Amino acid sequence: MNRTKGVRIKVPASTANLGPGFDTLGMALSLYSWVEMKESESTCIRLYGDNMKGLPKDKNNLMYRVAQLIFDEVGVSIPELEISMYSEVPLTRGLGSSASAIVGGMVAANALIGSPLSNEKLFDMATSLEGHPDNVGASLFGGIITAVWDGVHADHIKLEPHADLEVLVIIPDFQLSTSEARQVLPSHISREDAVYNISRSSLLVAALSSGRFDLIGKAMSDRLHQPYRASLVPGMVSILEEAPNRGALGVALSGAGPTLLAIVDRQNLHKKDLESYLLDTMKSYGILATARWLNPSTEGATNLAIVESDLFVDLIKGEVEV
Ligand code: HSE
Repeated sequence: MNRTKGVRIKVPASTANLGPGFDTLGMALSLYSWVEMKESESTCIRLYGDNMKGLPKDKNNLMYRVAQLIFDEVGVSIPELEISMYSEVPLTRGLGSSASAIVGGMVAANALIGSPLSNEKLFDMATSLEGHPDNVGASLFGGIITAVWDGVHADHIKLEPHADLEVLVIIPDFQLSTSEARQVLPSHISREDAVYNISRSSLLVAALSSGRFDLIGKAMSDRLHQPYRASLVPGMVSILEEAPNRGALGVALSGAGPTLLAIVDRQNLHKKDLESYLLDTMKSYGILATARWLNPSTEGATNLAIVESDLFVDLIKGEVEV
């Protein structure tokens, strides 16, 4: 096996569901995490930036654990690793932070041992760990993905996002765990609601593929999860109703929340007004939030050429202020 001394991977964040595509649709976003992984004499995990605060720096670290899953799958033993990570992705806000760590750790570990596993195999393993394919698929493959998971294998098709699609995320200053946001969901839904979502999810994929911006708003509504999660995200109901009148092509809860996501036409001249409306509405519900204008990330997890003399911190400083 063709092992390398060390690898560096850049992974995009992601938004899941896009409204009606619960556990199915995902889009990679231009917020990134960088992971460096090397074989080592003893395990050392360095986490940089505020978004990494409080995460384990020992062998309980998620990236260390997923790396060992990869090595076990291939039948190699690398018990000691040096891992560095910097992430722009805020934790437990609905922007796929855990999916970025899973994908970053898996892609790095696989690259470290000469990439014996295909991306499709990594997708299966990442989905099995995460429980649904939407966030991990977007982080792994980039673009907009539509995916199905049968409990063993995940299939997907990647759509190239239209060049005029821009994304505004409103990130509240509180955390909401995916497990808490899944607990409020009903175990059964009516046929009417199933049809409501199937039709809109299908229309959304077609609208995104064909550039039918006029249908994105109608297609992004949902009855499977957003109504039940509304009580967890103050201001969400007003925003879902009103944001399309303020310049959003469509609006949804990002993944399990609490972040809200608006899809916007880059050419729209009233983007600043939309941002002010969203922040002011959250504030009127007592929620402080941060707005970030992002792009869909067309690239998924990328193996950066490792330059032996460059320190990890220098690499990320070249792209972001640490
Ligand atoms: N599809 C998932 C959910 C995304 O909505 O619960 C969050 O990880």
